[in-house]
Amino acid sequence: MNAGTPIVAAEALTKRFAESVAVDGLTFSVDRGEIFGLVGPDGAGKTTTMRMLAGVLPPDAGSIVVDSVDVVADPEGAKQHISYMPQRFGLYEDLTVDENIRFYADLFEVPSALREERATRLLAASGMSQFRARLAGQLSGGMKQKLGLTCALVHTPQVLLLDEPTTGVDPVSRRDFWRILYGLREEGVTILISTAYLDEAERCNRLALLYGGRVLYCDTPVALKRHMPGALIVITSSAGRDARAAIARLAGVSNVVLVGDGVHAVVDDSRLRIPELRQALEGVNVPFANIAVGEPSIEDVFMALLDDPEAPR
Ligand SMILES: Nc1ncnc2c1ncn2[C@@H]1O[C@H](COP(=O)(O)OP(=O)(O)O)[C@@H](O)[C@H]1O
Ligand SMILES: [Mg+2]
Repeated sequence: MNAGTPIVAAEALTKRFAESVAVDGLTFSVDRGEIFGLVGPDGAGKTTTMRMLAGVLPPDAGSIVVDSVDVVADPEGAKQHISYMPQRFGLYEDLTVDENIRFYADLFEVPSALREERATRLLAASGMSQFRARLAGQLSGGMKQKLGLTCALVHTPQVLLLDEPTTGVDPVSRRDFWRILYGLREEGVTILISTAYLDEAERCNRLALLYGGRVLYCDTPVALKRHMPGALIVITSSAGRDARAAIARLAGVSNVVLVGDGVHAVVDDSRLRIPELRQALEGVNVPFANIAVGEPSIEDVFMALLDDPEAPR
C-alpha cells in the first residue's frame, strides 16, 4: 500500500433527508495513522457522515474509498477494514462486561485464541479490569463508552470510526479514552472521531470543522488558528459583565464573550483596537488588570469563523 495514498477519502458526499440537506458536498481525506476529527455542533452532519463512511447509509451523491475499497459500491467488503462505534452503541445492558465483549467477538468472528488476550489488554487500558462481571446497565456513562470502544476493537481494524464517543463523558474518563486512542494510533490504527466538544479538536492531528453539512476548514489545530479572522483580545477583569457592556458595540469588535476571569473579544486589528478598548473601559471606570492579544482556542476560531462573512461556506 502506498504510504502517500489517503486511507479514507470522501468526495462531494451529499445526503438529504426530506427537505433538508444533512451533508452537503463534503470532501476530505484521512492519512494512514492519523487521528482525524469531524468537529462541529449538534446538527452539523457528523453522525450522517459517519454512517455513510461505515457503509450503513448510502449517500445521495459522492464517493467514499476506505483502504482501497469503494464503500458505496461494496459496503459489505468495506466492513472488513472498518470498525464503527455508532453514537448510540448497542451494549446489552442485561449482559456483563465480559458477555458484551464475547457477543461482539462472535459477531466479528474473532478467533478464540485472540479474544482473551485482546479483552484483557483493552480492559486494562481503560481501567475496567475489575468490572468484568458487572452488568453493562450498571456502569457509569464513561465506562459504558469505554466498554463500547473495547467491543468495537475486539477485531483489530485498519480504520476506526468513532461517532461522538465522549458525549456526556466526564473529563477524567475522556482523558482515559483519548489515552487509549493515542495507544491505538501507535499501533498504526487510523482513527476518525467526531465530537461536538471544540476543546477535543486540539487533540486531533487534523480536523474538519463542520457546520450545516459543510466543511468550514480542514487543517491541523495549529494551522486552523492561523485562519482566525482578526485577533483574539483577552481582557482580565473582575468586572467581566461591565467590561463586556463597555466594549460590545465598538467599531471593529465582534464576538465579545464572558470567560472565567474576564472577557474575550475578537477585533479586526489589534494594534488599532487595543488602545480604543482600553480607553472605553477607562471611560466608564471598569477595572481591568490586563488587556493583550491572546492565543485563540479552537472554540474562539470557530465562533469567529461563523461570524465572518468572508469565511468559506
Ligand atoms: N434519519 C434522519 N431523518 C431526517 N433527518 C435526519 C436524519 N438523520 C439526521 N437528520 C438531520 O440531519 C442533520 C444532521 O444530523 P446529524 O448527522 O445527526 O448531525 P450531528 O451528528 O452533527 O449532530 C440534522 O438536521 C438532523 O436533524
Ligand atoms: Mg451525532
